[in-house]
Amino acid sequence: MERNINNLLVTGGAGFIGSNLIRHIFRETDFAGRLVNVDKLTYAGNPENLADIRNDFGADRYRFERADICDREAMNSLFKKYDVDAVIHLAAESHVDRSIAGPAEFITTNIYGTFSLLEAARSFWGDRRDVVFHHVSTDEVFGSLGESGYFDESTPYAPRSPYSSSKASSDHLVRAYFHTYRLPVTLSHCSNNYGPYQFPEKLIPLAVLNLLSGREVPVYGDGKNVRDWLYVADHAAALWTIVRRGTAGESYNVGGGNELENIALVRLLCEIVAAARDRPSEPYLKLITFVKDRPGHDRRYAINCDKIKRELGWRQSVKFEEGLRSTVRWYLDNGGWVERVKTGEYKKWVEKNYTRR
Ligand code: NAD
Ligand code: DAU
Repeated sequence: MERNINNLLVTGGAGFIGSNLIRHIFRETDFAGRLVNVDKLTYAGNPENLADIRNDFGADRYRFERADICDREAMNSLFKKYDVDAVIHLAAESHVDRSIAGPAEFITTNIYGTFSLLEAARSFWGDRRDVVFHHVSTDEVFGSLGESGYFDESTPYAPRSPYSSSKASSDHLVRAYFHTYRLPVTLSHCSNNYGPYQFPEKLIPLAVLNLLSGREVPVYGDGKNVRDWLYVADHAAALWTIVRRGTAGESYNVGGGNELENIALVRLLCEIVAAARDRPSEPYLKLITFVKDRPGHDRRYAINCDKIKRELGWRQSVKFEEGLRSTVRWYLDNGGWVERVKTGEYKKWVEKNYTRR
């Protein structure tokens, strides 16, 4: 059975995955309703990521609301104002290194913010079962793997960073609302995403931009930590599939099937950047620099996503090297975006043009 969605609330839609998701929904699906993007516009939120959507789809279809998901009054009033019948909840503090440097914001936004949204949904929806609250979680809640094995949906939780612990905590709250209040929820656990509009604090955009400007690329520890990489548009397609067809109360793992040691990934990026610039790869490879390890650095993530394939028919569509090449091309072709993000110019523009609630 497919859910009929008229008024979709996306939280964190001005960030990396959120903006790619909103573009996917408008451009690649049959969604005919209204989409409301609620975002606080932290350092990671950039409305420029959705400039094309704002221009191509009128206010009947796309609305932006600058608000903090922790503001319970604001969340309650948004549900009423837009008669929300589905939520895709992405808003979060998302960067592990930042959670190590300062966990407080992670606890507030990721845990209390999720609670605030759950309460708004519960109070507005009452006993309705034709609605859905989709919570976007991460594979990091399952902890760290050894050399073999995969996370599946029944893997016990074992988060090891303030970020993953805050996400785990929010997952538990979401499931509690299903069991206690019968709120129709779904959850997804995705592996590392890459693609356009990713903030250059995460490994892939950081490495690409450093290589392009001749700066060192820091590789933590021995570089042998393994991540599984998924092109962001494939994640977007998975989220939409779950919201339309996922079973209430169920979780779905989403992964790329592209496990790679960080050092191998960075070397591959050197080759791709060199080829894109028609230059030899050696000078780029020399920029790789091993640095002090991240505290509590999870060794390996690998995901078994058979369930979403089997039950909902989702598949990855972008081959890894092809996705990496088009990501490098995107950063090369979008020098203005890169410059505004690197200089912080985008924040000045946001503060001038977007008032806070
Ligand atoms: P991001 O940091 O790029 O974007 C987060 C967005 O949330 C930003 O637009 C930010 O302004 C907004 N936000 C932060 N705090 C807020 C608040 N209090 N109220 C309203 N908006 C707020 O993150 P991302 O990489 O796009 O990740 C999105 C979601 O997906 C997160 O929940 C993250 O845990 C999850 N996830 C990410 C990955 C990944 O590889 N990036 C993988 C799996 C799951
Ligand atoms: O697995 C899903 C998670 O992937 C998401 O839940 C998180 O929101 C997202 O940030 C990402 O977390 P990671 O910590 O895996 O991503 P990051 O890009 O920070 O790091 C990827 C790997 O590269 C990790 O092993 C640490 C390493 N690294 C990272 C940076 C920024 C480096 O070696 N050097 C770096 O400079």
